[in-house]
Amino acid sequence: MSNRTLAILKPDCVRKNFQGKVLSKIQEAGFKVLAMKQIRLTKSQAEGFYAVHKGRPFFAELTAFMSSGPCVPIALERNDAVATFRKTIGATDPAEAEPGTVRREFADSKGENIVHGSDSDENAKIEIGFFFSDSELLG
Ligand code: CMP
Repeated sequence: MSNRTLAILKPDCVRKNFQGKVLSKIQEAGFKVLAMKQIRLTKSQAEGFYAVHKGRPFFAELTAFMSSGPCVPIALERNDAVATFRKTIGATDPAEAEPGTVRREFADSKGENIVHGSDSDENAKIEIGFFFSDSELLG
């Protein structure tokens, strides 16, 4: 069990100007920010980040959306980070997310669901490394 995970405030979150509201909920859940930046992914960077989903029917839609505007990757620290963060944001589909979760409160759809969270310790390490160098992670 690792203590780090990667969040991305997705382009819908930035467009709605909900970055502060979502970050508050993340901090209230006990996460510490190790690194954070705003970046606009190119289509090919989005395809690289989501390479595990290549071949899925929603891959084109997902990568077009993720490169449609700026997003905010955030490296986070907490004990049991991956599982706790996924609980904080709720199910992929906001209609299925528990009341009080980030996606239930702020997301519109399964595709435009406000926030990404790593799904395993192994992927958290890869995903944090996609956006940040070790020297940028300040604990
Ligand atoms: P995320 O946690 O960023 O990881 C993969 C993403 O694929 C997921 O959130 C959703 O936004 C997206 N996704 C999953 N299923 C679908 C779907 N059926 N249609 C569109 N996007 C989807």
